[in-house]
Amino acid sequence: MEVVIQPGAALAELAAEAIIRLLERKPDAVLGLATGSSPLPIYRELIERYQDGQADFSGAAAFTLDEYVGIDPDHPQRYRNVIDDEFTKHVNFRPEAVHGPDGNAADLALACQSYEEAIKAAGGVDLQILGIGTDGHIAFNEPGSSLASRTRLKSLTPQTRMDNARFFDGNVDRVPRHCLTQGLATIMSARHIVLIATGRGKAEAVHQMVEGAVSAMWPASILQMHPHVTVLVDDGAAGRLQLADYYRQAYEHKPDWQRI
Ligand code: F6R
Repeated sequence: MEVVIQPGAALAELAAEAIIRLLERKPDAVLGLATGSSPLPIYRELIERYQDGQADFSGAAAFTLDEYVGIDPDHPQRYRNVIDDEFTKHVNFRPEAVHGPDGNAADLALACQSYEEAIKAAGGVDLQILGIGTDGHIAFNEPGSSLASRTRLKSLTPQTRMDNARFFDGNVDRVPRHCLTQGLATIMSARHIVLIATGRGKAEAVHQMVEGAVSAMWPASILQMHPHVTVLVDDGAAGRLQLADYYRQAYEHKPDWQRI
């Protein structure tokens, strides 16, 4: 795991740069996209770079991580709509190349299986962007999730529903109770994982993910078992890291050719 501690704007630039270089090497790259507030600066940076002619998504595909179950297809908080509004419709993805789990499917188990198959058929995710919840969840793999899980139906914890109430007029009762989410093993199949976390509220989750025991109680800790994870954090989110000085030094002296 590489931990990069930098101001927020620099983190977004690093992630965007990694995506642009991937697309140059592999124009038909498959991107894994997270919703939530953490990746928004990355998407804004990518949109700007696209508008400057520095990024081309025309051959790329994208898979979102998760979706609320039973949410109105036109609801602005449906994650498939969120990702379009925040990112994909502002760049030149082909609309049919952007995928999300179908939280309104009549057969939810089948929808999960089809989603796994679609990711596989696309060749797997090359670069997965992740955020992290205050309880250590990635995608909607809440504490207690199987470390070997694949895409499936999950119940959101009261904490996550409260955290997300801000997107539903501050009313927790409007936050759906269920979601479809890529599993931890699904996420672990991505070739490069770039997790971004900012602010003091994420500090404990980041500490447990990077330096705690690998445990279903902190689902993101499974990322310790992945060969290529980049953790992008600002000072706030790095606030509980025991080895913060070491991570800072390692990044400062990193050879230029190595990148993230
Ligand atoms: C969203 C997702 C979630 C968020 C997490 C952090 O697709 O997968 O795991 O990444 O809840 O959310 P923010 O970034 O809003 O703090």
